[in-house]
Amino acid sequence: MIKVLTVFGTRPEAIKMAPLVRLLDADKEVRSVLCVTAQHREMLDGVLELFALTPDYDLNIMRPNQSIGAITANVLAGLEGVIERETPDVLLVHGDTTTTFAAALAGFYRMCKIGHVEAGLRTHDKYSPYPEEMNRVLTGRLADFHFAPTPRNRDNLLREGVDESKVFVTGNTVIDALLEVARRPYRFAEGPLATIDFGTRRLITVTCHRRENLGENMTAIFSAVRDIADAFADVEIVYPVHLNPRVRATADETLRGAARVHLIEPLGYLPFVKLMSMSHLIITDSGGMQEEAPALGKPVLVVRKETERPEAIEAGTVRLAGVRREELFAHASELLTDRAAYEKMAKAVNPYGDGRASRRIADILKERAARV
Ligand code: UD1
Ligand code: UDP
Repeated sequence: MIKVLTVFGTRPEAIKMAPLVRLLDADKEVRSVLCVTAQHREMLDGVLELFALTPDYDLNIMRPNQSIGAITANVLAGLEGVIERETPDVLLVHGDTTTTFAAALAGFYRMCKIGHVEAGLRTHDKYSPYPEEMNRVLTGRLADFHFAPTPRNRDNLLREGVDESKVFVTGNTVIDALLEVARRPYRFAEGPLATIDFGTRRLITVTCHRRENLGENMTAIFSAVRDIADAFADVEIVYPVHLNPRVRATADETLRGAARVHLIEPLGYLPFVKLMSMSHLIITDSGGMQEEAPALGKPVLVVRKETERPEAIEAGTVRLAGVRREELFAHASELLTDRAAYEKMAKAVNPYGDGRASRRIADILKERAARV
């Protein structure tokens, strides 16, 4: 019997950890405890509901426009008592958020073993993505079990001196979540997308939220999105706007009122997966969508200068489009006019796993966690 305390706090962590937590919950050899920091509130709660997860602890730390330092301090303070009460064999964290790093640090302070899911992604640029690159590096230094999605992620860890016996290539749990949710039935007529008449138009899904893009870059990206809508009368653009007030202000200033551009509230994961599946093209700075869209065979223009996910670029379905207005417009125009260029990108590839990553992680934890 092992006790696993899983901690997450934002939408993407919840999506990617839900399949694993459900497996741990159902396993008789595991005592599974879930603590959410609620670094995100609404965006987290929808995912918990979709996957029928009920947290044992909810630190409820979200405050409007909270600084990274405040998030760190609140997670550290909130988790201390939870770890002390539960004394888990392993504390499980995911990915690269401030919840991830602060929870790993809280676990380290209580000398708890740390399992890091989605380990080993790197850009090697301290400030990009910010603060995610350093959150990953620092969590990696604290971790005892590194669950690397791809062999490249494993190699990054080995180059940093992590002991080979602590690194496991498992695939990415996002594919587990995606495949499960994509199979669920969904009726557009009853959901938040019902008012949009897609007709025969080509659908472009847009998301954008990264801190290093806030300000000038985001204005340039949104201006390019507006240019695309103006130049191509047969496209319909749907942008579920992240709840960060700074993102919303820029989206309002730059895109509100643009013809065939729909600024909508963040979508639940089920309608969002259906939206991606119907899309002709995806424009995003999201990490998770760089993994999901290739699995769905959808070309992605990544509005960033670098990515810690080069596998899908090598496979040909993801392109780094940069953060300049003209550059992004040029990439989108090419894909909207050159059928051969589009077809070359629109193929389902999946460098991120077979949908069984969570099963592998649960099995490794059961086998290894009791022994160390
Ligand atoms: C956070 C993570 C980022 C991750 C992203 C995924 C940090 C510092 N940032 O960025 O790594 O890629 O989540 O989306 O860990 N808000 C709400 N309701 C919500 C969620 C957010 O109102 O459900 C608003 C709040 O005003 C909040 C602000 O958005 O203060 C920013 O949220 P925060 O978690 O600080 O940063 P994100 O940009 O969401
Ligand atoms: N997503 C969602 N609803 C939306 C936008 C995105 O459910 O309106 C999902 C998306 O499919 C992906 C995750 O949220 O799984 C990405 O979250 P985000 O972009 O906030 O974070 P990142 O991927 O950059 O870590």
